[in-house]
Amino acid sequence: MKQTLKQLQNLKGNTRISMLTAYNCPVARSIEQAGVPIILVGDSVGMVEMGFSSTRDVTMEHMVYHIGAVRRGAPNTHIIGDLPHLSYESVEDAVSNAKKLVAAGADSVKLEGPYFDAVKAIVAEGIEVVAHTGLTPQKATSFKKVGKDAAEAEQILQDSVALQQAGAGMLVLEHIPAELGLKITQALTIPTIGIGAGGDTDGQVLVINDALGIGDYWPPFSKQYAHVTETISQVCAKYRQEVENKQFP
Ligand code: KIV
Ligand code: NA
Repeated sequence: MKQTLKQLQNLKGNTRISMLTAYNCPVARSIEQAGVPIILVGDSVGMVEMGFSSTRDVTMEHMVYHIGAVRRGAPNTHIIGDLPHLSYESVEDAVSNAKKLVAAGADSVKLEGPYFDAVKAIVAEGIEVVAHTGLTPQKATSFKKVGKDAAEAEQILQDSVALQQAGAGMLVLEHIPAELGLKITQALTIPTIGIGAGGDTDGQVLVINDALGIGDYWPPFSKQYAHVTETISQVCAKYRQEVENKQFP
């Protein structure tokens, strides 16, 4: 059954939390059937599904479209919708765009970076917020691991604590050293969800296309549980052959 972030917070310290991204209806349906408690409709859709080279090309319109499709496939799963690049620069935009993602089918919204006032304002409207620190691709100029030096690590820790204080109900930690992932996880009462953040966060998120082996590049910290791109090529080649040879229909 669909849980709120508040309810999912009780898992911290008890059960590790799995989260997968999804962008379309049939994949969302499979994720729900597998009992994964949280689906993230990430702006990673821009890179892994839409052919853009950055998540910065993703718009509110794109997010609304994909959130709707995922909601129709997974009516009983908590869905987090990513607020896209430049959609929360002002507190007013943050609130109105968060409302649009909820209207599209999201249960909570996620934003990147130390946008404390935006988090407070969205939470004040009764919408749960997931924060995201470490590597934040909407603003990052490189995809390298962050928080390797002590000053940067301290800043990420402080931002994490302040995001919790601002009212965030969960925190995604992307591409940071495992020790920092552990330290932040111990410092917070809300669950931390890691991606390339070591094995000691409260949960993990994986991009579904990376898990399925769809695409031609997968980050080293991801895992391929299947090789669907190969399967698609094989199916297409076989189909072509059978049509040309009059084996099908
Ligand atoms: O957009 C996304 O898929 C994300 C995850 C990588 C955390 O933000
Ligand atoms: Na994202």
